[in-house]
Amino acid sequence: MKAHLMKKTPWLSGLFASAVCAAAVLCAGCGPRQASAPALKAKATGSAIVVVSGDKQLGSPGSALPQPLIVQVNDDQGNAVTGARVELSGPKGVLFDPAEVLTDDNGQATVKVRLAGVSGRYELTAASQDAHGKSFDIPVAEYAAGYQQQVGYKIDAKYCSRCHDEESTTEQVSNYDNLAVPPHAFSNGGVYNKLSGSDLAAIIAHGGPAMNRSALMPPYGWTLTKPEIQAVIAYIRLVSDPPYAAPGVGYANR
Ligand code: HEC
Repeated sequence: MKAHLMKKTPWLSGLFASAVCAAAVLCAGCGPRQASAPALKAKATGSAIVVVSGDKQLGSPGSALPQPLIVQVNDDQGNAVTGARVELSGPKGVLFDPAEVLTDDNGQATVKVRLAGVSGRYELTAASQDAHGKSFDIPVAEYAAGYQQQVGYKIDAKYCSRCHDEESTTEQVSNYDNLAVPPHAFSNGGVYNKLSGSDLAAIIAHGGPAMNRSALMPPYGWTLTKPEIQAVIAYIRLVSDPPYAAPGVGYANR
């Protein structure tokens, strides 16, 4: 994900890098806890790192994510490695507890994450080193939803996810498999990033046929107010993968 982003928008990766640098510079002298904490020494090394759970969560700006982030270090054979060092990093203002940890008996590292005060998509990195000291890492995306996006998330949970989310939960059985024309997950940036805000608003308010699509997509213009429809769109833009680039931003590099 991150690699893709960097390839397409080098200016953006530069921006991320400088944000990370700024954080490092700021923290060098100011964090007594970090300054006095001795660097953790790895007891073992692996060669790959994977996310077990806790990525793509929706949190509030400036607060802890509901679930911890759990990553696992594996060796060449895909076996979990105990005692490997995992280091977390992210944009300025993101806090990890702990920021450095050794993997447990299951080869896993569990970290609490607090996003910074700005709403939007956060690109975090969990990294480890192999036997030769070479780093390997995994990008992790998390979302800080502002008020409007939180409203959109709730509307999705109430009205949309039963068809747009393939997965059933104990609270909600998905209707996805019953639909002759499959809708797409709101995170499907490949589909949603191509639809303009007004196209989305038209489909949501007037139903699929408004944009030559299936009538299996019901109209919500009587159920939702215009601001509520805008809130759902703001939520869709937030969780989009690959990330949604607002028109006029960064297109020169695409
Ligand atoms: C009863 C099932 C159902 C519900 C509930 C539903 N949709 Fe859909 N939706 C569909 C289907 C089926 C399509 C695909 C239509 C097509 O491609 O012809 C679709 C398509 C869409 C599209 C076009 C992009 C895509 O995924 O193909 C948007 C935007 C959309 N829905 C938004 C919403 C929103 C927002 C809600 C909740 C307010 C919602 N839908 C609720 C069934 C549903």
